[in-house]
Amino acid sequence: MSDQGESEVELEARLAEGESFDPPASFVEQANVADEDIYEEFEENWPECWEQAADLLTWEEEYDQVLDDSDEPFYEWFTDGKLNASANCLDRHLDERGDETAIEWIGELGETRSYTYQELHDEVNEFAAALREMGVEEDDVVTMYMPMIPELPIAMLACARIGAPHSVVFAGFSADALATRMNSADSEYLVTCDGYYRRGDPLNHKNKADEGLEDVEQDVTTVVVDRLGDDLDHDLGDSQHDWDDLVEAQAGASVEPVTRDAEDMLFLMYTSGTTGEPKGVKHTTGGYLSWVSWTSQSVLDIKPEDTYWCSADIGWITGHSYIVYGPLALGTTSVMYEGTPDYPEKDRLWQIVDDYDVTQLYTAPTAIRAFMKWGEEYPEKHDLSSLRLLGTVGEPINPRAWKWYYTHIGNEECPVVDTWWQTETGGMMVTTIPGVAEMKPGSAGPALPGVSAKVVDGNGDEVDPGEAGYLVVDKPWPGMLRTLYKNDERFIEEYWQEYSDPDEDEWVYFPEDGAKIDEDGYITVLGRVDDVINVSGHRLGTMELESAVVGVEGVAEAAIVGGKHDIKGEAVYAYVITEDGYEGGEDLRERIIEGVEDAIGPIARPEEVVFTEDLPKTRSGKIMRRLLENIANGEELGNTSTLRNPDIVSEIQSKVSND
Ligand code: PRX
Repeated sequence: MSDQGESEVELEARLAEGESFDPPASFVEQANVADEDIYEEFEENWPECWEQAADLLTWEEEYDQVLDDSDEPFYEWFTDGKLNASANCLDRHLDERGDETAIEWIGELGETRSYTYQELHDEVNEFAAALREMGVEEDDVVTMYMPMIPELPIAMLACARIGAPHSVVFAGFSADALATRMNSADSEYLVTCDGYYRRGDPLNHKNKADEGLEDVEQDVTTVVVDRLGDDLDHDLGDSQHDWDDLVEAQAGASVEPVTRDAEDMLFLMYTSGTTGEPKGVKHTTGGYLSWVSWTSQSVLDIKPEDTYWCSADIGWITGHSYIVYGPLALGTTSVMYEGTPDYPEKDRLWQIVDDYDVTQLYTAPTAIRAFMKWGEEYPEKHDLSSLRLLGTVGEPINPRAWKWYYTHIGNEECPVVDTWWQTETGGMMVTTIPGVAEMKPGSAGPALPGVSAKVVDGNGDEVDPGEAGYLVVDKPWPGMLRTLYKNDERFIEEYWQEYSDPDEDEWVYFPEDGAKIDEDGYITVLGRVDDVINVSGHRLGTMELESAVVGVEGVAEAAIVGGKHDIKGEAVYAYVITEDGYEGGEDLRERIIEGVEDAIGPIARPEEVVFTEDLPKTRSGKIMRRLLENIANGEELGNTSTLRNPDIVSEIQSKVSND
């Protein structure tokens, strides 16, 4: 693919030299943060610098202390401060911005719904009253299993209003995944819907929810949104209520936002890790909301008069932080799109940017690589001049995709922020401040002011510039997870054990990513170093995948690795040994794919299933996953002589390349 006359080879060579781009002057002039002294100021004034983030919120009672680190690593932020997240996202905007749009929703079929802050406030109040009527009390976990429909943020904010933490499960996850998460969170309430549209066709979602509920141990009360109307009939079982009926019964209700402590849980979000069980990441009210507000303001440059669009799904952390909480806390207009980027045509996103005069677009590298493949004629059909800033998140962005985004979407007039962060960090951690720092395609940028990110070797010593190592964060930050739900021990094991030295009171957070750092502090994130695969920006644990595959009748053993993929970043490769009496043929391949979709969801669908008689193992019997990765990527293999069964390698290799 050529780029403005420059050959691919020339372009890659130039980008490899570390070409950098200054933020456009027109952007800097109006940027929320344009003073480079911010880095030094925050360093000198740490942790008090984070008062700036807390100041973006309205507190019912001021906090006494910015950071309480008396029980490391169980840090507390803005101690004894009191606030309510829903009041911060809604009520406080009503006087000045009640008639301005809070959420601009665009449905898959082209239908639209627009909510002013006043309207959103009223709907949230009615649903909050309905939840109370159903028996939801403060600190009860309410699960949401919903696609991108307005009732999802309404339900989240209603929960926040009454102090009930929400746990949103991505709608693309399977029934099993829903049940696991509800059981883990002891959640007795579920908000879901009958179905939704995908590429114009109605898709039954309630079936999946009902199937999941069968495996939930506790009694559950369910609310069902009727998204599909006449396009899909559904029945309500015992303890299942229709959203509209509940809300109608509460018409005009007003629910006083409950006073929450800064450290009270706002929500749980399950994510994948090295071991099989998903981790329930706990985020709190004061620190999280401050963090997403401050990063929305300084990195996404959000202003109330903007029409800002994050194209993620609210079922993931990106949607929580940067569709719902950050943008609404700042009183801006947040766009929410239900559908896929290529339905009905491959210019759908650009049509929306054009129609709504979108000012910032925040999306994922996997989407950008797909746009690149589809061609620049699609964005060229539309006027994208309303855009002021572009962002990416979820996985490393290769320089060529960065450059394409910058040129063909941003017209070289928008800064691109490549934001590194995780479910656990709550919000952005490493990225350029667009009004201040130059951009280097492929490198996320320096750590944000006040964030202490380093790249270290296996001993925890900082590596030389340019050397690969492990990313760590050695000072706490307000948006950090506080623990894993009801599992403090696992919290320490997963994130703090590797590099901390408790005897010396040194606590170092390990995000399990590899990275390198330049002389000037720019960090390039290289990807996960644990057994997690990043498929289209979605985190999938290889252990979860392996147990799904091994659960399929006829499978004796399986190893899952990530292989490189042009669009998705990584794709799932399954290497499978069959049980005696079973053939590794098409039938078993299909059942394996089905097994994975049932256990996790279609996002986890294996790209390749390779049947083999054995797996490469060390003499002690450990599967050499790195070799399997090399094979998936068609890379040269390292030394195989230490294997118990070196011959198997070339046999597997021949099968992969034959596929
Ligand atoms: O490996 C990193 C990758 O995504 C992981 C976090 O995934 P998740 O918790 O699902 O959150 C995704 C949205 C924040 C990280 O550990 N990652 C995220 N952003 C980037 C990235 N890798 C490289 N560059 C990024 N900008």
